[in-house]
Amino acid sequence: MISWTAEKPSNIALIKYMGKKDKEKNVPSNSSFSWTLDHLTSKVELEIQKGDSDTWEPGESDFPFEMSSLGREKFLNHLQRVKDHFGVKERFKVKSANNFPADCGIASSASSFAALTEAAFKACEDLSSKKFSIKEKAMMSARGSGSSCRSFWSGFVLWEEQSLGPQDFAINSLSHMVVIVGGGAKKVSSSLAHKKVESSLLFEGRAERTRQRLEKVLEGLSSGNWSNLYQVVWAEFWDMHALFETSEPSFSYFLPGTFEVLEKTRSFWEEKGDGPVVTMDAGPNVHLLWRSDQKSLALEFYDQNLKSHWTTLSNIEDIGFARV
Ligand code: DP6
Repeated sequence: MISWTAEKPSNIALIKYMGKKDKEKNVPSNSSFSWTLDHLTSKVELEIQKGDSDTWEPGESDFPFEMSSLGREKFLNHLQRVKDHFGVKERFKVKSANNFPADCGIASSASSFAALTEAAFKACEDLSSKKFSIKEKAMMSARGSGSSCRSFWSGFVLWEEQSLGPQDFAINSLSHMVVIVGGGAKKVSSSLAHKKVESSLLFEGRAERTRQRLEKVLEGLSSGNWSNLYQVVWAEFWDMHALFETSEPSFSYFLPGTFEVLEKTRSFWEEKGDGPVVTMDAGPNVHLLWRSDQKSLALEFYDQNLKSHWTTLSNIEDIGFARV
């Protein structure tokens, strides 16, 4: 039995990819910028099988999950895209699994598409003896799911229409927490959100606003101005959620707990003059990023505001996956 495996991490965007210039090829309407979440990974295994189609099934994991039929179709279509790129005709059994709970509301699309692309390239390179660079692989991954292309590097990654790759700054180690205020399947997938936001009157100025914010984020990271970074990233996730709220018809990911957690982080900043960079994906959960020298501040925030109220998943050892 011949098989190939790959494991890739998720990432959280500080400047969000939202809106597409080309929906077929996932060409983004604006540049995006992310931090890679090395501790949250997906694993994909490909095994050659007989028969006339590729198939998907859940892999072995402490956190088993199911994929919707639409999700499977998108996943297997991407495998076909990579096979076509190499001219590979073999059929595969695809198994995928995450190292984090499926009900915790973390999007696994970035990590699972990156892992699928990596595993498919390994298989196809062996079967065809063609070779591609990491950037070519990541660009191909974007065709499957845009945000997955940023998961091919650790640290900060910038995805622009014509360029993609890691970015170096003095701040190069961050701790992550995601406060899970709601799990379960989303009513509007992020792929659908990309289409819906075009109906918002705010969409027209979006590319220019993200361009200005990206400049400020890069400047904040270069100069180490953390509170500026917090403000710009805060404005950016609100901008994306404002697009959702002002689409026609409007839609929303916010839950009552979302407002509560956001308010707690803002009060913390007001009280301490310091705190986490706060952001949200297309979901109700709140992501917090802390510098490595803020560990005691992060634990203080967790003990005061999260510990007895919310399930929190973190790569800070003393927190880990803490359910209330
Ligand atoms: C809100 O990459 O999931 O997470 O390309 O249609 O698969 P498709 O969309 P996807 O969109 C991610 C949107 C986001 C912001 C971000 O990660 O940049």
